[in-house]
Amino acid sequence: MIKLAVVGTGDIAQTHARAIQQLGTCELVALVNHRTESMQAFGEVFSVPVSRHYVTIEALINAGDVDAIIICTPNFLHASQSIMALTTGIHVLVEKPMAMTANEAQMILDAHTKSDAVLQVAHCWRFDEEVQFMRDQIASGIIGNVIRTKGYSAHVNWGPSGWFTQKALAGGGALADMGIHAIDTVRFLLGDPKPISVYATIGTYYGDYDVDDTGIITVTWDNDITSTIEFGWWQPHSDGIGASTQFYSTGGFAQLFPTTIQITDSTTRQLTTIETDYPAKRDPHVPLSIYINQIDHFVNCIQSRQTPIADGHVGFVNMQIVSAAYQSSKLNQVINI
Ligand SMILES: NC(=O)c1ccc[n+]([C@@H]2O[C@H](COP(=O)([O-])OP(=O)(O)OC[C@H]3O[C@@H](n4cnc5c(N)ncnc54)[C@H](O)[C@@H]3O)[C@@H](O)[C@H]2O)c1
Repeated sequence: MIKLAVVGTGDIAQTHARAIQQLGTCELVALVNHRTESMQAFGEVFSVPVSRHYVTIEALINAGDVDAIIICTPNFLHASQSIMALTTGIHVLVEKPMAMTANEAQMILDAHTKSDAVLQVAHCWRFDEEVQFMRDQIASGIIGNVIRTKGYSAHVNWGPSGWFTQKALAGGGALADMGIHAIDTVRFLLGDPKPISVYATIGTYYGDYDVDDTGIITVTWDNDITSTIEFGWWQPHSDGIGASTQFYSTGGFAQLFPTTIQITDSTTRQLTTIETDYPAKRDPHVPLSIYINQIDHFVNCIQSRQTPIADGHVGFVNMQIVSAAYQSSKLNQVINI
C-alpha cells in the first residue's frame, strides 16, 4: 500500500485525508506542519500517531518510510517542498497553484526531469465526472467546432483572509486561487491546447490587501478558440454556482454546471436539448468524489509509472497563463506566450 504524508494540515489537507480514508488503497502515515498543535489535532482525527509528526519536510524525508507527499501548504512553499521531495525520489501531489510564478514552476519541472518520482498537480476538476463527460462530448464533435468559451470561478460575498491575501505568501490573489481552476478546466475540456496569447484586466476592489480580487482574462489557444475567464472574491453576483464554463460552437452550445448540451438543427437553426442525468450542483459545489478520484489517479500513476493527466507540465502551462495575465494587466498589453 502506498504510504502518504500530508505537508500542511489545514483546510484542504483535511479533504485529502478524508479522500485517502475512503479510498482504502493508500494510507496516511505521516504529517508535516511547523505548528505542532494544529498537527496534533489533525493527527487525532485521522489516526496519525505523534511519532510520525514532523515540523519540517526535511525531518520527514530523513525519517523515511514514506512513498509520496501531498503538499497542502501556502503557495510560497510549493516549489521548495516539491523540489526537495522529488530530489529524494518521493512522489509529489502538489496543490494548485503549483508555484507562485511560471519561473518557479519551471524549477519544479527541472527537478522532476532529474527524478524518477511522479509529479501531479492538484487540478482537481479534471477528476469530476461531469467535467470528464463534457470533455468526451466536446471531443466527439457533438456541438461541432468550438469557437469561443466563457467561464468563471468566483466567490460571492466571501473571500479568504490570512496568507491567501498576502502577495509574498500566495503569489497572487483571486487569479492564483480561483481563476486557475477555471483556466485549467477549460483547457482540459478543450483537449489541452497551447496558449498563444493572454490579455487581462485585473484589480483589487473589495479588500485592503496587496493581491487581486477581480479580473477578466482572454486567452487565445493554438486551435483558434478564444476563451474568456472571469474570477474573483467578494463578487456581488455570479451567474450560477461558484464556477461554470460555456462553449459556443458551430453546431450548438454546451455548458458545464449546470451541465447542458444543445444541438443546432442545421436547417431550422432550432436548438434541441440533450438531457443529461446530472443533478444540479449546489454551493459549496466541490464533491469529495473528485478528491478521491484525484488521489486514486495519483496512486495508480505511481504504481504503473504513468504520466498523470494533471502532470507538472499541465501545472506549468497554467502558471504561464497566470504569470502572463498579471503582466498583461500591469502593462495593458497582449502577452504572447
Ligand atoms: N484544489 C482545491 O480545491 C483547493 C482548495 C483549497 C485550497 N487549495 C490549495 O491548497 C493549499 C493550502 O490551502 P488551505 O486552504 O488548506 O490553507 P490553510 O491555511 O488552511 O492550510 C495551510 C497549512 O499549511 C501549514 N503550514 C504553513 N507553513 C508551513 C510549513 N513551513 N511547513 C508545513 N506546514 C506549513 C499551516 O499551518 C496550515 O496547516 C493552497 O495552495 C491552496 O491554493 C486547493
